[in-house]
Amino acid sequence: MAVAGAKNSVLKLMAATLLAEGAYRLGNVPRIVDVDLMAELLRAVGCTVEWDPFDAAALHIDVPAEITPVAPYDIVERFRASVVVLGPMLARCGEATVALPGGDDFGPRPVDMHVRGLTELGARVDVVHGNIEASAAELLAGRVVLEFPSVGATENLLMAAVAAKGTTVIDNAAREPEIYDLCQFLGRMGADISGAGSSTLVVEGAGTARYLRSADHTVVGDRIVAATYLAALGVASGEVFVAGARHEHMELLCAKLAEMGMIITPDADGLRAIAPRRLDSVDCSTLPYPGVATDYKPFLVAMLATASGVGIVTENLFPGRFRYVDELRRMGADIRTDAHHAVVRGVERLSGAPVRAHDIRAGAALAVAGLGADGPTIVTDAHHVARGYEDLAGDLASLGANIRAEQAGSRRGASPPA
Ligand code: UD1
Repeated sequence: MAVAGAKNSVLKLMAATLLAEGAYRLGNVPRIVDVDLMAELLRAVGCTVEWDPFDAAALHIDVPAEITPVAPYDIVERFRASVVVLGPMLARCGEATVALPGGDDFGPRPVDMHVRGLTELGARVDVVHGNIEASAAELLAGRVVLEFPSVGATENLLMAAVAAKGTTVIDNAAREPEIYDLCQFLGRMGADISGAGSSTLVVEGAGTARYLRSADHTVVGDRIVAATYLAALGVASGEVFVAGARHEHMELLCAKLAEMGMIITPDADGLRAIAPRRLDSVDCSTLPYPGVATDYKPFLVAMLATASGVGIVTENLFPGRFRYVDELRRMGADIRTDAHHAVVRGVERLSGAPVRAHDIRAGAALAVAGLGADGPTIVTDAHHVARGYEDLAGDLASLGANIRAEQAGSRRGASPPA
């Protein structure tokens, strides 16, 4: 089993191409719906985006000398990550209009830190008529302290700061591997960034984006997809090798899984994992990287649902991110939620039921939970899953699961299961 490139990296790399005219080639790009949506957004601003005819995982992006720095609502509302075109478009064009992405099933997703940070870099930013409108005759370097290590705000600020004049310091920056990947890519484009992977990023900007040039890059592997396979193993028991998974990107998750009874052995090409028996319960709290990622949580809850004992899961990033728990309860899971805590009492087996995917990871976690259930589990609204997985059903089937994706409409009222 091999993981493709990370959704949460490739979307930002695609946005970063807007900084400079030229031909880009991105490798290890996942064939997922969100990449198609970002491609649509890049085309809307004037770029050409095409898959490589000989390499199914390579994407070519041609960025013209002039782009139209407007990200329209009809595209932006379909995926939140689109907000990261704001920084690069502002840096390149001195102005940018990006429709406000709106909330989603995790609850509200504000952009105040993006706005405040860009303002501190000298931009005028107004949120009007449902748009974020930013302009700056010149971006000014400075020190920005984020009140929380927001992934998206860090990315927008990084991509704006490369065109600010002088030294910008972003403090309390997010440290996710996907941010490190973006820093590497920006470095290849000619940017001078130090501190990648730490919470202090130092950017030496040139007062313009014109010094940047196009570059090629291979996208870092998707640690959340890797976690999905590990969770499937945890629920079903057995052994799996996840090629492309990097232990150093998933250290605390691997430690939790080991505590639950999994044996995980990293090697140069990936992670070998064995789940010899029913897992033990653990407690866990989500935190910004290197903490246990909020995106792992639905998988941890799915595993805890059939583990031995009681686990308490605390969500510290998106308080509303427990909606899938109702679906797991429909499958017989014993889970009680109170504000941002969930108490999960493991049961021996779940019982398969029709359930609904509310977002990408929740949908995948329900499919994983279905592996520990008697009888069929039908995940509807599984179009969410396709936003982040190339072929989750095919992947789990290749690990031995009895799972298939159905075409939309082939089951009355249902979208294809994962
Ligand atoms: C990214 C990931 C998402 C992951 C999340 C946290 C992508 C496409 N998505 O989302 O999968 O779950 O990081 O690891 O990369 N916040 C504010 N104001 C802001 C920005 C954020 O209050 O201006 C809050 C959010 O509401 C949330 C927390 O900060 O509570 C973290 O959000 P952030 O790190 O920005 O998440 P995203 O970049 O949206």
